[in-house]
Amino acid sequence: MSESTTAGDPPAYYGRHVFCCTNERAAGHPRGCCREKGADRLRDHLKARAKELGLKDVRINAAGCLDRCELGPTMVIYPEGVWYTFRDERDLEEILRAHIAGGGRVERLMLRPEDGPG
Ligand code: FES
Repeated sequence: MSESTTAGDPPAYYGRHVFCCTNERAAGHPRGCCREKGADRLRDHLKARAKELGLKDVRINAAGCLDRCELGPTMVIYPEGVWYTFRDERDLEEILRAHIAGGGRVERLMLRPEDGPG
C-alpha cells in the first residue's frame, strides 16, 4: 500500500476528519443500511459530544454508503484511515475519547478488510 501523503502535499485541513455513514436504503434491502440502525441519530450525537468536549481540530461529517453496510453503522477516521463499527452512545464515547481526541485506538470496535464484505 502507498504512503498516505507525498512531499509537497498541502497540510491537512483537520487533525482528524471523521466520516459517518448515514445512508438509507429501502426497507428489506438485503445489505441493510446504517440509517436503519440509528446512524443518523448517532452521528448527530458524536458531533454534539465533540463540540461539548471543545475539540477544535476535528471535523465530523455525514457520508453516503461506505460499502460496509452489513457491519454498520460504520465510520472511517482520517488521516489514519481506521474504520469502526458502533452500536450506541457508549461505543461512540469510547471512540471519541480514545481515538478522535486521544489518538489511540478502540480495538474491539475496529473493522478490518477481512471483516467484509467479501
Ligand atoms: S449503508 Fe452504511 S456502509 Fe453502506
